[in-house]
Amino acid sequence: MTKQIYLDYNASTPIAHEALEAMRPFLTQHYGNPSSPHWAGIPAKDAVERARTQVAALLDCDPTEVVFTSGGSESNNHALKGVFFAHREHGDHIITTAVEHPATLAPGRFLERLGAKVTILPVDRFGRVDPDDVRRAISSRTILISVMHANNEVGTIQPIAEIAAIAHEAGVLCHTDAAQSVGKIPTRVDTLGVDLLSLAGHKLYAPKGIGALYIRKGTCIEPFIHGAGHESGRRAGTENVLLAVALGAACEVAAGWIDAPQIKDLRDRFWDQLQETFGPKVSLNGHPTQRLSNTLNINFTGRTGAEILGRMPQVAASTGSACHAGSVTLSPVLAAMGVPVREGMGAIRFSLGRATTWKELDEVISCLRHLSL
Ligand SMILES: Cc1ncc(COP(=O)(O)O)c(C=O)c1O
Repeated sequence: MTKQIYLDYNASTPIAHEALEAMRPFLTQHYGNPSSPHWAGIPAKDAVERARTQVAALLDCDPTEVVFTSGGSESNNHALKGVFFAHREHGDHIITTAVEHPATLAPGRFLERLGAKVTILPVDRFGRVDPDDVRRAISSRTILISVMHANNEVGTIQPIAEIAAIAHEAGVLCHTDAAQSVGKIPTRVDTLGVDLLSLAGHKLYAPKGIGALYIRKGTCIEPFIHGAGHESGRRAGTENVLLAVALGAACEVAAGWIDAPQIKDLRDRFWDQLQETFGPKVSLNGHPTQRLSNTLNINFTGRTGAEILGRMPQVAASTGSACHAGSVTLSPVLAAMGVPVREGMGAIRFSLGRATTWKELDEVISCLRHLSL
């Protein structure tokens, strides 16, 4: 069988060896409840707190500002709904963008049913939001600005620090969905200036089903799950010790992979070769420089991405967003960027990771050549 090639790291990553090893004792020995103050509970509690410290180190925040969640979707839901429910007396207006993940846009639509007003800002052809558009959209009713740090489909990085500064000038909270950026580029919360930040474990070599929400000290936000006082009263439910320790270990490892030049070099060489091979039949989606260094989203003009990937089934990549894989309509992100339909229908997102080799990328180029595109 032809070797399988994985180029879908923005959809999900394998579990880092260190994360796997960190979990092992919690599958067998340490089964206690972290809330129990006895010999069985204490190691579990210590492990959760150590993991919280490891996550906080990557975000450069205080461990008490990290709340474990079930992943990126929950973190975004908590940010939007939690702020709306805590601030609805003073305001009801939320600002976000057209290129957000459904995990932000759908809670926004849900809140509209409860009376929220949601402004969805446009982006330019590279997928960037204009901070002046953010400034103009703010009103006396605005309570939250939610702009993703880096886009999952095209990798474009948003000017979050500038947007957060604009938000704070107006006394508005700022949230960023950093599911795609944590572990790939610096995501220090003070540099970004955000009040809330979402991360998803399975995008940074931790297992699926774990994530975190950074909540800046003093931020007024309603808990997402009501119940007992877990997570300092911000999210009820016995902590998922197993996955929390994995996330902590993954965050520690990720610190060594920020702006990894080896991944960027491979990605750039891959793109150079594709251009050399296919000339004007290929074009790039996303910002040429302000872009995640592992992400290459390209259009094969006049073709459909699904058809191309269908003809090389050993290659795992994505057409548009992985969350809607299989769809042949232009993705909302590409549509918002104004990518012409004839080009964008042929979009394929190749996202590279730690295990990607040049041999694999070369193999993909050969496969594509054989398809006579
Ligand atoms: C930018 C972004 N936000 C949120 C999510 C949702 O994360 P999760 O799958 O952990 O719920 C994803 C996952 O695709 C994503 O790429």
